Amino acid sequence: MTIQVVILAAGQGKRMNSDLPKVLHNLGGRPLLQHVIDTVLTIDANIIPFIIYGYLGQQLISAFPHYAINWIWQDQQLGTGHAVSQVLSQLDPAANILILYGDVPLLSINTLKRLINDTPAGAIGIVTAHFKNPYGYGRIKRNSSNLVTEIIEDKDATTDERQMTEVNSGIYYLPAKYLLEWVPGLTTKNAQGEYYLTEVIMQAVAAGISIHTVAPDSWQEILGVNDKQQLAVLERYYQQLQSENLLQQGAILLDPARCDIRGNVTCGRDVVIDINVIFEGRVELGDGCMVGANSILRNVRLGTRVKIQPFSLVDGAEIAHDCVIGPFARIRPDTELAAHVHVGNFVEIKQSKVNKNSKINHLSYIGDSEVGMRVNIGAGTITCNYDGVNKHKTIIGDDVFIGSAVQLVAPVTVGNGATIGAGSTITANAPPHQLTLARAIQCSKPMWQRPKKLPS
Ligand code: UD1
Ligand code: CA
Repeated sequence: MTIQVVILAAGQGKRMNSDLPKVLHNLGGRPLLQHVIDTVLTIDANIIPFIIYGYLGQQLISAFPHYAINWIWQDQQLGTGHAVSQVLSQLDPAANILILYGDVPLLSINTLKRLINDTPAGAIGIVTAHFKNPYGYGRIKRNSSNLVTEIIEDKDATTDERQMTEVNSGIYYLPAKYLLEWVPGLTTKNAQGEYYLTEVIMQAVAAGISIHTVAPDSWQEILGVNDKQQLAVLERYYQQLQSENLLQQGAILLDPARCDIRGNVTCGRDVVIDINVIFEGRVELGDGCMVGANSILRNVRLGTRVKIQPFSLVDGAEIAHDCVIGPFARIRPDTELAAHVHVGNFVEIKQSKVNKNSKINHLSYIGDSEVGMRVNIGAGTITCNYDGVNKHKTIIGDDVFIGSAVQLVAPVTVGNGATIGAGSTITANAPPHQLTLARAIQCSKPMWQRPKKLPS
């Protein structure tokens, strides 16, 4: 059976009070709409969803350059039925159609699979759930045999009907032929003067078609985002799921409520994560790693037993086993640290490779550099990699010792085994195995006296 997917995302999202289209707001670091597309692609990676869009359309399209999407423009937002009418001509009459919403981001893959697999051929599948507070949602009305007969919008409901707690998620799985048959005839005879997609369900019931309802694994899956408060609630729920996933993988979260994951984290055994840690992008943590409080890890891979001390920002780096970073370290993209490297407080490293057993422990900037093995870089050392126009490289050999407060003006090479005296400004290559000094010779003036205060 061919499945075609239609995602409704043309609503303006007025209640967001935002310049950004609603479905581009982030949840767990990804736009709402991307959650929906990613879920669809796990059903079948070859699906090219139809996305009904309208408000700030160009911004929406350019937010998804890496996805194959059939964008369908809806000029005026006249209701969910009107939205679906825009795509009718592109539906395969023999296909089944899955209808999703761009602002309902957390529908799980499992619930979606059940909707698709459990809906009998020829029936209409709907995801529904009982809500403690069903206000605003369409309600599912059933007859004495518990069969669905109608969906009534909140605004059209009587006081009695409003007491019903089973809500319509708006997520449907149904043969295309029903949409082709009934969408063109939709009316606007309702409280909102809109073309309701739910009217199709009533037409189907009248024609004797059976309605199959599917409950989501958890009710939060069908929560929609209409304002920023709902977005914040969903974000917390999403983060709770992410933390549970990390705990399942074997991590120890000192407080699962104070860890945020905005991407994908995989972690080995006995990883310890202290509070207020943020993970972004793709992060891999090897066995026995420790991440200190208030650290941010973005697109990084840590080998085993790496220790990130508190307040460190590690971004776009590959860090081998047994390294120690921080506290207060900043590792920037394209940095590679080999095993047993130590990077201490107030050290910034950018686009550099540091080889095994080297130490950069205090107050340094290392940029566009290659640092050898067993190198010791003293406090306050700076690679002067930028001449105001271009960036240049600093090469530091193995077993080099660099004293404190040294400036290495790139391009420059320090040979293997070299020692650089503290306070030197190195502007030419330093030969291997020698002491190089580039600073004023110290002198003392025995006859010198401090000036005295002049009489006033
Ligand atoms: C809809 C359902 C309601 C259900 C609820 C679940 C109808 C008539 N009602 O109501 O039963 O409980 O969703 O959240 O279907 N959209 C368009 N173009 C339009 C109108 C809407 O693309 O012209 C999109 C919106 O961007 C949104 C989705 O469709 O993603 C739902 O629209 P919305 O107006 O929020 O419908 P509800 O009134 O919430
Ligand atoms: Ca809605």
